[in-house]
Amino acid sequence: MSLNIYLNGEYLPKEQATISVFDRGFLFGDGVYEVIPVYAGKLFRFDQHIERLNNSLAAILIKPPLLLEEWRGIAEQLTAQLPGRDQSLYLQVTRGSGHDREHAIPRDIEPNLLAMTRLQGSPDEKIKSHGVSVVTLDDDRWKHCNIKAITLLPNLLAKHRAKQEHADEAILIRDGKAHEGAASNLFMVKDGLLITPPKSDMLLPGITRDLVLELARHSGTAHCEADIHADDLEEADEIWITSSSKEIAPVISLNGNPVGDGQPGPIWKNFNALFDACKERLRIEGECR
Ligand code: PDD
Repeated sequence: MSLNIYLNGEYLPKEQATISVFDRGFLFGDGVYEVIPVYAGKLFRFDQHIERLNNSLAAILIKPPLLLEEWRGIAEQLTAQLPGRDQSLYLQVTRGSGHDREHAIPRDIEPNLLAMTRLQGSPDEKIKSHGVSVVTLDDDRWKHCNIKAITLLPNLLAKHRAKQEHADEAILIRDGKAHEGAASNLFMVKDGLLITPPKSDMLLPGITRDLVLELARHSGTAHCEADIHADDLEEADEIWITSSSKEIAPVISLNGNPVGDGQPGPIWKNFNALFDACKERLRIEGECR
């Protein structure tokens, strides 16, 4: 079944959803995006995703093109094409199409808005039962990693290098500190304490990360936001990576060495169950606070 795509006010079959080659996202990567999980047709933490989108837009000097409720209308129309199904909803705003390839930001330009959805099963059961492997790599991204920019070349190359080293994800190290993965946030557990790096310009403020911290508060799990040094990772009892598509994934191997006993750890098991319960509340009650 071919799903319609939203493009600049219209719902179109994907073959008809086309855009100018002068789109500044296409030419310069001049835009921002969101990936929003949808469970049983219900939008997961939609308001928080739109708030982050608006923060990204403000950071690159684009006025919010739509109100929260307008975005919600689009999201609901698109996701209704797959009623009751788990999906991944993608939103993208670029600065718009100029008349030429010009670095300077044009004054009178309307953003290009794209939204599309696709079926998304829960992360592979294999990830949950076996865990994932990571390698540490130099973080050679810019210094505004809090902006969810579509300009993802360093992230893509890091992921590619990780794959070449037979790992699932790269953990990016800058000035000796591990900030996040190429497409995920980072948590570690040491002696029962759950640690994640504090929000800063060096990492994306993940919506899944926020939820994990909320679950830690509600479950009374000892936790803190503190720097994680590359060496700390080697001593970790557990490492997790989190994202909208991976949820909470247990890391069982770091640079080819086992993390803890090389199995998904007990604290991860507890949080994975809490996360599943949260998804179930969303499916049944329509909310997951
Ligand atoms: N990426 N850090 C980076 C660099 C990311 O790209 C992502 C997510 C995250 C986790 O954020 P969240 O929990 O809000 O998904 C952290 C998405 C899924 C992507 O680019 O497809």
